Amino acid sequence: MNDEDGLGGLEGVVAAHTVLSEVDGAAGRLVIRGHQLDEIAQRWRYEDVVALLFQGFFDTVPNAAALRGALGRARREAFERLQPNDDAVLRKMPPIEAVRALLARLPDGDDLATALRLVAAPAVYTAAVMRWRLGVQALAPDESLPYAADMLRMLHGRTPTAAQAAALDTYLVTVCDHGLNASTFAARVVASTGAGLASAVLAGISALKGPLHGGAPGPVLDALDAIGTAANARHWLEGAVASGQRLMGFGHRIYRVRDPRADALKGALRRLSVEGSVNAARFELAEAAEQAALAILREKKPDRALETNVEFYTALLLEALGFGRESFTCVFAAGRVSGWVAHAREQVKKGRLIRPQSVYVGPMPQDADTELAH
Ligand code: ACO
Repeated sequence: MNDEDGLGGLEGVVAAHTVLSEVDGAAGRLVIRGHQLDEIAQRWRYEDVVALLFQGFFDTVPNAAALRGALGRARREAFERLQPNDDAVLRKMPPIEAVRALLARLPDGDDLATALRLVAAPAVYTAAVMRWRLGVQALAPDESLPYAADMLRMLHGRTPTAAQAAALDTYLVTVCDHGLNASTFAARVVASTGAGLASAVLAGISALKGPLHGGAPGPVLDALDAIGTAANARHWLEGAVASGQRLMGFGHRIYRVRDPRADALKGALRRLSVEGSVNAARFELAEAAEQAALAILREKKPDRALETNVEFYTALLLEALGFGRESFTCVFAAGRVSGWVAHAREQVKKGRLIRPQSVYVGPMPQDADTELAH
């Protein structure tokens, strides 16, 4: 870590008051607008949490049932914006960059219609981009389906089982908002300039893409593949830490205990495994790797409490749902976009530009008088 003045990460700096979520890093607790995560992660659909987050931030917000229809229509609108040669161009880009490029075409604004388009579009574009990469056509949305079920249908070309749709709902609800994380802060900064919700979301997705934030779950699977067997976990992970690598899926800026989202997602994985949608050997390898990683981190980094974070079981869950690992960050964006939009609206309502200060520590120009004296 090279942060001599301790300012680099703005650790401990409070930059907003929010009604949207509270992250209690000591207790390992996440509250989303008055609801504890474990109360809602299993039972709510994504539409329910979008309605909750948007309440009070637009003139009128439909209830969850009406929102389901409105998001269905917004998915259709997002799909209709695709252009004939998009597949040829965008299939070559990393999926998160392709989805970002497609989102950048959406009109900007501050109203509910703009917000719904932004929430709907990542489901459509993630599925489209992943299908193009396989050389098959993008599928149009089915407006009558709930968001999660339709996202899986657009990806795989078949209606998912109830358990699969419920597992994706658990994921989307679990990641919808999380305090002032890097992407949400980026979204709020942009929103504070009055640029509009689409601009704020583009800032959010750009911050999310980094491997220290939302880009971690793909590399979690790369590590599991490299580990190969439970017996090899300790040896491989020790080597990785010894060579200075960070173990993906572990550690967090705020949590000093286990990230509560890890257990919400592990629970979804267990429920999904009941119907046989989870590779049991993969699950066992992941659990062995997790235990080995935690033991090694306790030994090698005793001064820092490094626990499992949300990304570890994200990787397992999204893999079990058939998302390719290159698309994991796009699926994260589909969930987090609702939080970005709500935070952007909250920031706009405050009506104040975010503009912190820096302290200049570079060289000063030569003093003219001193120069003349020489
Ligand atoms: N593996 C090994 N060591 C780690 C890890 C890790 N996953 N995380 C932190 N450390 C070590 C650092 O090397 C550092 O050690 P040092 O002081 O000996 O150099 C110490 O712990 C403190 O690290 P910081 O960089 O100060 O921790 P920070 O709060 O900035 O990091 C972060 C948080 C970025 C998430 C970090 O833990 C990490 O890189 N984890 C791996 C990537 C990951 O899983 N990201 C997803 C996070 S969840 C999310 O954003 C949705």
